[in-house]
Amino acid sequence: MKIIVCENYEEMSAKCTEIFAELIKNKPDCKLGLATGSTPEGLYANLAELYKKGELDFSKVKTYNLDEYYPIKATNDQSYRYFMNDKLFNHINIDKANTFVPNGEAADPDEECRNYEKMLDAMGGVDIQLLGIGQNGHIGFNEPDEKLCCVTHLTDLTESTINANARFFNDVSEVPTKALTMGIGSIFKAKKVVLLASGKNKKDAISQLLDENLTTNNPSTMLKLHNDLVIICDKEAYGE
Ligand code: F6R
Repeated sequence: MKIIVCENYEEMSAKCTEIFAELIKNKPDCKLGLATGSTPEGLYANLAELYKKGELDFSKVKTYNLDEYYPIKATNDQSYRYFMNDKLFNHINIDKANTFVPNGEAADPDEECRNYEKMLDAMGGVDIQLLGIGQNGHIGFNEPDEKLCCVTHLTDLTESTINANARFFNDVSEVPTKALTMGIGSIFKAKKVVLLASGKNKKDAISQLLDENLTTNNPSTMLKLHNDLVIICDKEAYGE
């Protein structure tokens, strides 16, 4: 595990941008595992900027997102498909047919999850999986529980996550209570995992990630078993 502690959010985003930009330049047909939420917004803005300057080409890049609310229409401005188009895909030269997000409109969510996992298996793992972290230690929507699921699955969101995400909706009652998410094993198919954390509300989750224990009460702690994990966080999340 490698940990990079940054002064602030901007520096954290810049460090992560360096890692992604280097991969995209060295491997134009790379596969990226992507996340939504507030934390990666700086990274996505930086990547769009580098594309605008002519420094990056996304024409052969493929992307695979971690999760999506269920049920939700892709056109809903709170869907993760909408977020990805709005924050990144609409600003770069990626072919949208090469961007994969679990389908929140699927009639049969279990079938959608099986197909998503099959697709991950068939493509042989992303080069980098980007992760944020929930205040409760969730990664993707793998919430703290007695058991963690290995594969892509339909899950119930915890009250803590629903409350944390209510800031994006008009009212907490509008936050979907379920989601489709890659499982811990799906995330582990990545060759490299980069986890971003910013702000003091992530401090407790990060300090458990940095201690010696594994616990399903903080799913991010499982990442300690991955052989190429980079944590990039700011001082507030690190706890200084
Ligand atoms: C989003 C995701 C979530 C977020 C986490 C942190 O695709 O998988 O695990 O990364 O909820 O969200 P923010 O960045 O909004 O604090």
